[in-house]
Amino acid sequence: MCGIFAAVSDRPVAGVLVQGLKRLEYRGYDSAGVATIDDDGMKRVCAVGKVAALESRVEAERLPGCIGIAHTRWATHGSPSEGDSHPQIASGVAVVHNGIVENHGALRRRLKRQGCNFHSETDSEVIPWLISRAVADGLGAAQALNLLDEALEGSFAVAFMTEADRNVLHAKRHGSPLVAALGPQGGYLSSDISALAGLAKEAIVLSDGDLVELRRDAIAVFDKIGRPVSRPRLPVEASGGAFDKGGYHHYMLKEIHDQPSVARAVESRYDRGDFIGEQIRLDFDQVDRIRLIACGTSYYACLVAKRWFAEIAGVSAEVDLASEHRYAPHVADGLREAAILVSQSGETADTLASLEKLEGLGVPTIGIANQQASTLAREADYFLPLLAGAEIGVASTKAFTAQLLVLARFVAHVAEQRGHRAAARRLRAALGEAPKAMEAVLHNEAAIVAVAETFAKARSALFVGRGALYPLAMEGALKLKEISYIHAEGFAAGELKHGPIALVDEQTPVVALAPTGALFSKLASNVREIAARKGRIILIGDRKALLALSDVADASLTLPTCDELIQPIIAAIPLQFLAYHVAAARGRDIDRPRNLAKSVTVE
Ligand code: AGP
Repeated sequence: MCGIFAAVSDRPVAGVLVQGLKRLEYRGYDSAGVATIDDDGMKRVCAVGKVAALESRVEAERLPGCIGIAHTRWATHGSPSEGDSHPQIASGVAVVHNGIVENHGALRRRLKRQGCNFHSETDSEVIPWLISRAVADGLGAAQALNLLDEALEGSFAVAFMTEADRNVLHAKRHGSPLVAALGPQGGYLSSDISALAGLAKEAIVLSDGDLVELRRDAIAVFDKIGRPVSRPRLPVEASGGAFDKGGYHHYMLKEIHDQPSVARAVESRYDRGDFIGEQIRLDFDQVDRIRLIACGTSYYACLVAKRWFAEIAGVSAEVDLASEHRYAPHVADGLREAAILVSQSGETADTLASLEKLEGLGVPTIGIANQQASTLAREADYFLPLLAGAEIGVASTKAFTAQLLVLARFVAHVAEQRGHRAAARRLRAALGEAPKAMEAVLHNEAAIVAVAETFAKARSALFVGRGALYPLAMEGALKLKEISYIHAEGFAAGELKHGPIALVDEQTPVVALAPTGALFSKLASNVREIAARKGRIILIGDRKALLALSDVADASLTLPTCDELIQPIIAAIPLQFLAYHVAAARGRDIDRPRNLAKSVTVE
């Protein structure tokens, strides 16, 4: 959600800025812009819509500046318009900003009274005005940036440059992520380490409150009271391979197909020695309750893990949406808790707010995220990486199954510590089968394409499941709605007759997750209830289950036979394929669905 990219070099930077923005596109945005400074002064070029539109304008302008800042903007205040795009410029100061200035109204009124002439509707425009006034009052850049801490309410990352000094970029991190790097051709700032591929070998991950001064051959980082500090460095993936679609039409399709190799990567890291025990120094035999917190798809992964914790490790788990948990009253019931916060990006604002709340309550926290340079990775007490590789499609696919795979290994670790060794062994053995089972589903893609073609005409769809597959029903519905824009809901199959069955008719496809297992006969009854109301049933199950319900299925998607414990992991793939192919049949912008951002860094 919004992206900052900035560069200072001894050669023109417009091309590298646009390339940086292209690599940040996946975060979600609706307008983009760059500004550079050359001998003739500051030049700003912006465009509504895709970075490709900005690119043609930048090429036409032939910007010669060797210092520049760039931004992809996801509109919060003001429309997605050129005027509201960043960089925002005031009195020779150009600023790009991620985050929200919550008190921008009061600041704008005050600055207007002081003679500042605003040109946009955006909350961000107060920032260049605040900086330019501070600089005019004789303050240095660092002091001007520090003033923002006092003046602005909300979280932000800001980068700026001034016409007065064409050799240095300034930045500050206050809640929103930012990394800085030096390469052979200059210095760079970016919201995301992966956008630096090919430009630098490693990046400095800034901490909250840090200030950076970046020149073409030097980086200086200062903490919030101005002391020079050294911050962790992370390697930058050399090739930018994450931005290669690997021959697929969309990143999402590539990422669906990546899943067996992600499962193998997780297996080889987590099954080597006691990896989790080395990362997390907690005795789970002394924990009474696990608290799982996340948003969206990551939340559904937590709901699956809740069942595993109970079934395999004999420990109860509570799952909360971070957006609710952060404001929920806390009940001190004396139970000893450990909290697991799950996220693809590690930057989701609500999840980070929950983390802060839990830390305030003294609950030990474990972050699980794909981005190792993320705030969650850094600020949780302990961290487990997802190892899914960069996920560019907005719809989470391989990060979701990686979350399930890592959570399952975590459950096995907790089970062992609590003396449930046989159950832990069974879960680990089942997980060992996951890559092959995933491959078997990937081979069935053609069958799913055929189903998707008729499904694509639906106005609404239902997904049902039981047990650990109930969260998958919700995940299947979320995936479908976010990229195809078909209304969809996921239900616990047993709940149908308490209301949702009223929605069933001949036009409404109902996807039933029905593999053989402990709850199959219950699910089968629910499927027959749907059939009796003329619902169009798409069954997802193993051969035995499909055979048992063949008389009522309008279409069937086959899952390989596997241990029931890993069915949620394997069943994710046909649901992802279904959403993908329905969205493709409807001609949707699959990797960048409307209104959505990959990394939801504002509340
Ligand atoms: C998944 O397809 C979604 N785009 C979304 O629900 C996502 O899972 C949610 O925003 C949470 O993001 P996170 O995993 O990065 O915290």
